Amino acid sequence: MEDARTVLVTGAAKRIGRGIALRLFQAGYRVAIHYATSEREARETAEQCGSAPLFRANLESVDEIRAMFREVEASAGPLYGLVNNAARFTRRDPLTMTEADWDFIHSVNLKATFFCCQQGALLMKKTGAGRIVNISSLGGIRPWADHAHYCSSKAGVIMLTKALAKAFAPEISVNSVAPGVILSSPDEPRVQDMIAATPARRRGTVEEVADAVLYFLNASNFVTGQVLAVDGGLSQR
Ligand SMILES: NC(=O)c1ccc[n+]([C@@H]2O[C@H](COP(=O)([O-])OP(=O)(O)OC[C@H]3O[C@@H](n4cnc5c(N)ncnc54)[C@H](OP(=O)(O)O)[C@@H]3O)[C@@H](O)[C@H]2O)c1
Repeated sequence: MEDARTVLVTGAAKRIGRGIALRLFQAGYRVAIHYATSEREARETAEQCGSAPLFRANLESVDEIRAMFREVEASAGPLYGLVNNAARFTRRDPLTMTEADWDFIHSVNLKATFFCCQQGALLMKKTGAGRIVNISSLGGIRPWADHAHYCSSKAGVIMLTKALAKAFAPEISVNSVAPGVILSSPDEPRVQDMIAATPARRRGTVEEVADAVLYFLNASNFVTGQVLAVDGGLSQR
C-alpha cells in the first residue's frame, strides 16, 4: 500500500484546527500537528490522530516558521499538504485601533500565512506535488465594522491564495475555505443577527469546514485559486 501523505495543520490543538486534523486522519492522511501555547490539547489531538508528530512554533516569527518546516522535513518526511488554520480574532473600533492592535492580527493571519505557504511550497516542490489550503473567513468577503483589521487580513489571505495559485502551479494547488459563523457564541446579539440572516438559518459545524478542506486536499491540480465559502449562504446576501 502507498504510504499515507503527510499534511501539516497549523493551530491544530483545538476547535476548528483539531476538527480538520481529525477529519484528515480519518480520511487516511498522516497529519502533523502544529500548536503554539496549547500543548496539552495538542498532545490529545495528536493521540487521536494516530500519535501524530507535534511541532511548536510562534508563527509571529518567520525564523520560527522556517525552523518548523525544517523540523517537519527532518522528522515527518516529504510534505504533501499544508492547512494554514492558525489565526487571531479581536474586535477594535477602527478610530481607536493602535499599531499594536493592527500588527497583532496581521502578523499571524496574513504574514505568517504567507511565510508558511512559502516554506511549505519549497518542500512540496522537492516531491513535485502539493496542496495548500488557507483558512480565510466570511470576514474576508463581507465587511464587519468593528473587525476592519481582521477583515482586511482575511481578504489578504484570499488574494494571497489566488496569487500563489498562479505562482506555485502546476505542481501545487492553493485554495481557501472561508468559514461563516461556526464557533462564535450564539449568545452574542451580533452572532444572533448573523445566524438570522443566514439562508441556512443555523451556525455551521467544524465538520462542515473540515470536509471542505478535505475536498481541496483530494482534488487534482485543476482546482486551484478557489475560495469555498462554508457559510450557509450568508456571503450571497
Ligand atoms: N471560529 C469561527 O467561527 C470562524 C469563523 C470564520 C473563520 N474562522 C477561521 O477559522 C480558523 C480557525 O478558527 P478557530 O476559531 O478555531 O481559531 P482559534 O481558536 O481562534 O485559533 C486557532 C489556533 O491559532 C493558533 N495561533 C494563534 N496565534 C498564534 C501564533 N502567534 N503562533 C502560532 N499559532 C497561533 C492558536 O494555537 P495555540 O492554542 O496552540 O496557541 C489557536 O489554537 C481561523 O483561521 C479563523 O480565522 C473561524
